[in-house]
Amino acid sequence: MEKPQSVLILDFGGQYTQLIARRVRESKVYSTVLPYSATLDEIRQTKPMGIILSGGPSSVLDEDAPMLDKELFSLGVPVLGICYGMQLMAHLFDTTIEKCAQREYGRAPVHMDQRETGLLEGMSETSFCWMSHTYQVMQPPTGFQVIAHTDHCSVAAMADEEHGLYGVQFHPEVTHTDEGTRMIENFLHKICGLGYDWTMEAYAEMAVQQIRDQVGEGTVLLGLSGGVDSAVTAALIHRAIGDRLTCVYVDHGFMRAGESDQVVEVFTNTFPVELIHVDASDRYFTELEGVTDPETKRKIIGHLFVKVFQEESAKLGKRDHFAQGTIYPDVIESGKVKGSAVIKSHHNVGGLPEELGFDSLVEPLKMLFKDEVRVLGLTLGLPEALIRRQPFPGPGLAIRVIGELTREKVRIVRESDLVLREEIANAGLNKSISQYFTVLTNARSVGVMGDVRTYDYAVALRAVTTDDFMTADIAKVPYEILGKIATRIVGEVAGVNRILYDITTKPPASIEWE
Ligand code: XMP
Repeated sequence: MEKPQSVLILDFGGQYTQLIARRVRESKVYSTVLPYSATLDEIRQTKPMGIILSGGPSSVLDEDAPMLDKELFSLGVPVLGICYGMQLMAHLFDTTIEKCAQREYGRAPVHMDQRETGLLEGMSETSFCWMSHTYQVMQPPTGFQVIAHTDHCSVAAMADEEHGLYGVQFHPEVTHTDEGTRMIENFLHKICGLGYDWTMEAYAEMAVQQIRDQVGEGTVLLGLSGGVDSAVTAALIHRAIGDRLTCVYVDHGFMRAGESDQVVEVFTNTFPVELIHVDASDRYFTELEGVTDPETKRKIIGHLFVKVFQEESAKLGKRDHFAQGTIYPDVIESGKVKGSAVIKSHHNVGGLPEELGFDSLVEPLKMLFKDEVRVLGLTLGLPEALIRRQPFPGPGLAIRVIGELTREKVRIVRESDLVLREEIANAGLNKSISQYFTVLTNARSVGVMGDVRTYDYAVALRAVTTDDFMTADIAKVPYEILGKIATRIVGEVAGVNRILYDITTKPPASIEWE
């Protein structure tokens, strides 16, 4: 496939570099990210139509500050410097950078002084932008004009239109900057002349090519978890190398209703890979017998997962490469933005790639954000129901059964969860509630059903809204819907005679019960 027209992002170690790449993708432009230390030759080879210099943690005044060859500004390609990138540009053009009298951090009103044409075209006179800097450019370099300022920073943006050089002190790539997208689009489409031809389908094709380059004639092993990320990874690798992909799906027996069948169906019929479906539920129930402490439960589940996975891959014999569905937020969380990513902490198959002597690690989603992974999954043809799944913990329904686990109790959470999901969908609430599920409390209480006394379990309903799952609010499910759910669960799920609605925010409660 022809490489599309692209913009090059030079990474100075900023925490938002991948956000810049993401905004560029959203503007339907292809981007390449290279470290700032790339040589001019390497830069030329990417044939960029524009270059973006990212932010970074350093100050240009530091002795070992990351630098650039000034030649870069003479390639005849427009350059946009963001934060550190702007300061570096100013520094290389011999103007002074100084510590700010008042460090700016957070959303600040920026006055756009030149917005008829160019970088700030069409932006509001005053626009809220995300500032995060300790140093600032005091004077624009010769040939540059100030195009925006704040109350504390006289050069919030600068431009040398003749040479296509631009710098902004604020971060257009973060959503806290109200009109950041417009600014980035101005740079890409109006200044660099890039078209709108980059799509997720094109992304998939590039990723497929990269996988083929990496894997060659080799084989790949992947652990399917039943979740979105590993499923999209598998579909992508299947497109690249077909049935040279082997997927091992360790089914611990704690998946939600219908999920295991769906995984097997999809990777048998839609994406026919070599699929090893291991029903390990007997082993899980045996090892978990009598265990009631939540942390111990989690540990047993995690360790057994690794063990079963390792046994299965040993049985298979050697596969050349190991793949996993690491996505960009995992890379950030593991603190390894630059190095290779670590294995996800849940459903952890830690140590496997090295121990089993794989040639390499294939992580095709490493640069994507969760919502992009979903779009990619749909583009590849994975079913909507799999792609739009709510977050589901690695240990599955096991952490939604309080106290000792039994098949009977897991059945109760599974069946009640299905009723809840159906009713939330029927009420059209499934898009507005971030996560919803049922919990089998270990409490039993007295009830009466058809003139008969019962002594059955109480099931709790949990439904929360949240952006980041670090904090959460209670979803305000209308009483009529709650009533309907309660009636159905008590009527349809044997062993339940009472329903509670959990009205605790996070914090102090967590979202899951264990
Ligand atoms: P808590 O209960 O900590 O949950 O408020 C926050 C989010 O994380 C999910 N969660 C997990 N996800 N493995 C996962 O992949 C786990 O072990 C795990 N435990 C909790 C939880 O469902 C919620 O979305």
